[in-house]
Amino acid sequence: MARGSDRKRPDFYSRKAKASGRAARSVYKLEEMDQRWRILAKGQRVLDLGCSPGSWLQYAAEKIGPQGQAIGYDLKPVNATLPAHAEARIGDVYELDIEALGTFDVILSDMAPNTTGDRKTDAWRSAGLAENAMLIAQQSLKPGGHFIAKILEGGDVPELIKKLRQNYHKATQTRPKATRKESTEIFLVGLGKRH
Ligand SMILES: C[S@@+](CC[C@H](N)C(=O)[O-])C[C@H]1O[C@@H](n2cnc3c(N)ncnc32)[C@H](O)[C@@H]1O
Repeated sequence: MARGSDRKRPDFYSRKAKASGRAARSVYKLEEMDQRWRILAKGQRVLDLGCSPGSWLQYAAEKIGPQGQAIGYDLKPVNATLPAHAEARIGDVYELDIEALGTFDVILSDMAPNTTGDRKTDAWRSAGLAENAMLIAQQSLKPGGHFIAKILEGGDVPELIKKLRQNYHKATQTRPKATRKESTEIFLVGLGKRH
């Protein structure tokens, strides 16, 4: 989880997540983006970077159904219950054997660095994670595939959006309603990878 953001006081989204058995309130951010851009569909292969505690992985697994496959990576384990077509692996995204993973229809990253309290440092670490997710997508996302990555404002967002525009038919940024007021997070969205 985004340390210092989603673990704070319970609010509407955390209560809703708890009541509906979701692993984290973050699920409502992905749900909003998915409903807006129709990212996830039956039968897809999905990679979820920074997947613990598992709410995005659970949501993606529901949307792709048992004909699809969802693979998540995180430094930490996922204790949430997952269906057979979803798998959480422990790993550092900077050390993944990308080629061995094969290709994906959708690549998601909700990765967040351990926060230091220094906004500038946190933003640049977050940008490093988002940039790494973009590199993975360059290699492993199928043409036409979709990409989402969290980034804290202050990291080089305009530069990353510029890169996304070169590589996707549509590139944009969004701040879902479930993002906490005090958080500086936004999500980069790339729709329809060009090649
Ligand atoms: C906000 S949480 C993800 C929440 C998740 N999307 C969910 O809905 O349950 C961010 C995660 O990014 C992970 N993370 C940070 N750096 C990472 C790295 N280098 N490799 C893998 N995971 C990383 C953290 O361990 C943390 O669990």
